[in-house]
Amino acid sequence: MNLPDQLSRLKSLWTRTPEQTKRLSLLLVIFVALFLPLRSLLIPADFGEIGHYRASALEENAEQHIHYAGQTICFDCHDDIVHTRNQGYHRGLSCEMCHGPAAAHAEDPGMSQLRVPRDRGYCPLCHEYLASRPTGFPQIVSASHNPLKPCITCHNPHDPVPPETPRDCEACHAAIARTKAISHHVYIPCARCHETPEEHRVNPRMFRPSKPMNRDFCGECHYTDAAGSEVTQRVERDTHGARYVCWQCHYPHLPEAK
Ligand code: HEC
Ligand code: HEC
Ligand code: HEC
Ligand code: HEC
Ligand code: HEC
Ligand code: HEC
Ligand code: HEC
Ligand code: HEC
Repeated sequence: MNLPDQLSRLKSLWTRTPEQTKRLSLLLVIFVALFLPLRSLLIPADFGEIGHYRASALEENAEQHIHYAGQTICFDCHDDIVHTRNQGYHRGLSCEMCHGPAAAHAEDPGMSQLRVPRDRGYCPLCHEYLASRPTGFPQIVSASHNPLKPCITCHNPHDPVPPETPRDCEACHAAIARTKAISHHVYIPCARCHETPEEHRVNPRMFRPSKPMNRDFCGECHYTDAAGSEVTQRVERDTHGARYVCWQCHYPHLPEAK
């Protein structure tokens, strides 16, 4: 193909090109024409010296102020706490996760106060029940998990093993046990009202505990004429709610007098 042929092909190509593409290519030409002379202004001088980035970025980063100390240095002065933490469930948590950046503190402990998250709001950041958390990760619903008290009254933040609980009836009847724990009947053992065969713990549906059968059972403590009872709140045997059993009106695990 000779030169005139090529030129005429280009010309026909140009005439067939849509208007908007022509305008765009014009803009592109102007952009490149401006960029080439300004290139040295737009691209930092040390770009590409030691790779595809600004060489001076290294120095700038190195000059940044250090906020975090890392946890090895804490051992110098708080070895007891580091030991405790390493043995417990929180062994995977760094100190500064909870106490915040501590570089200034590690340098001069007297001058810099650290954050110490003692309030109830903090621990649920990780432990509040969320369906998306992995199964088995210890979670609680803070509204019902021992509300009113800060978490650290029962859990040591550096070794948070849950306190021992009497795992008896509570192991399976947790809701009832928790209800009773905040009721007037808190000091009455379950077995006082439910005679429970040993086998119930192994085969609960086959071997059932007893349940109070009649009004007189509650009356042993609550009738006005009950001898030997130290209970102060008494009711008349024959008139108080006489036609019903007591637990039709009073929930036995959380009795209320309303
Ligand atoms: C050079 C020794 C030293 C190092 C290193 C050090 N600490 Fe301390 N830290 C202290 C001293 C001393 C106190 C008590 C300061 C006070 O009572 O004012 C203290 C107190 C604390 C407190 C309690 C603050 C409060 O208000 O009750 C926390 C939390 C703490 N340090 C965390 C850390 C962490 C985390 C590290 C590691 C990044 C660390 N410390 C490194 C000496 C040190
Ligand atoms: C899960 C969060 C958490 C982690 C992780 C944690 N702490 Fe604490 N730390 C606390 C809380 C909450 C308190 C307040 C305890 C209190 O008042 O009884 C505390 C208290 C302290 C105190 C004050 C002295 C004391 O015993 O009351 C020091 C010192 C301390 N932490 C250092 C550390 C060090 C060092 C590490 C890392 C090995 C660390 N903490 C890891 C939450 C944490
Ligand atoms: C950054 C997230 C984080 C924070 C904040 C945190 N924890 Fe934990 N906690 C964990 C991890 C991770 C474990 C270990 C889970 C495992 O072993 O499967 C754990 C374990 C526990 C356990 C052990 C449960 C068990 O029996 O398995 C308790 C209790 C606990 N944390 C209480 C607390 C308390 C109280 C606080 C507040 C001082 C707190 N946690 C703050 C992450 C966190
Ligand atoms: C009155 C004491 C008390 C307080 C306050 C308390 N807990 Fe507990 N916590 C317990 C006991 C007891 C257990 C173990 C028995 C159980 O499972 O209920 C436990 C268990 C846990 C577990 C393990 C649950 C599991 O499934 O393994 C986590 C996590 C936990 N608590 C976190 C917290 C957090 C976070 C707070 C504060 C919002 C808190 N606790 C406040 C007593 C307490
Ligand atoms: C191994 C788990 C487990 C343990 C431990 C356990 N229970 Fe049960 N309990 C059950 C099951 C399951 C049922 C049957 C619930 C149902 O049928 O709806 C039940 C039923 C009961 C009932 C109702 C019986 C009825 O006929 O309605 C009472 C009362 C009772 N348990 C009391 C107790 C007492 C008191 C203790 C402690 C001494 C205890 N349980 C320990 C699992 C257990
Ligand atoms: C003051 C006596 C009393 C005490 C203490 C008591 N219960 Fe009950 N419980 C009753 C009565 C009465 C019923 C029957 C309620 C009914 O039939 O409506 C009952 C019913 C039950 C039932 C049957 C299901 C239900 O909720 O009605 C279970 C399970 C149970 N109790 C478990 C327990 C456990 C576990 C404890 C200890 C944490 C306990 N009870 C303590 C009096 C008591
Ligand atoms: C028909 C419903 C009903 C029945 C059945 C019933 N109660 Fe009550 N009970 C009440 C009401 C309502 C109150 C609060 C008002 C009052 O003192 O009469 C109350 C109050 C009480 C009080 C508190 C008294 C005080 O001095 O504050 C006790 C204790 C009590 N009942 C025990 C029992 C016992 C035990 C039985 C079974 C022998 C029983 N009740 C049966 C409805 C009932
Ligand atoms: C072992 C003794 C005992 C038995 C059995 C007993 N109670 Fe009680 N009850 C108490 C004590 C203790 C209180 C706390 C108030 C007091 O000291 O007078 C109380 C309080 C109450 C109250 C008042 C709650 C309030 O809000 O003021 C009611 C209602 C009640 N019991 C109902 C019952 C019922 C229903 C039963 C039978 C299922 C029952 N009690 C069995 C010892 C007992």
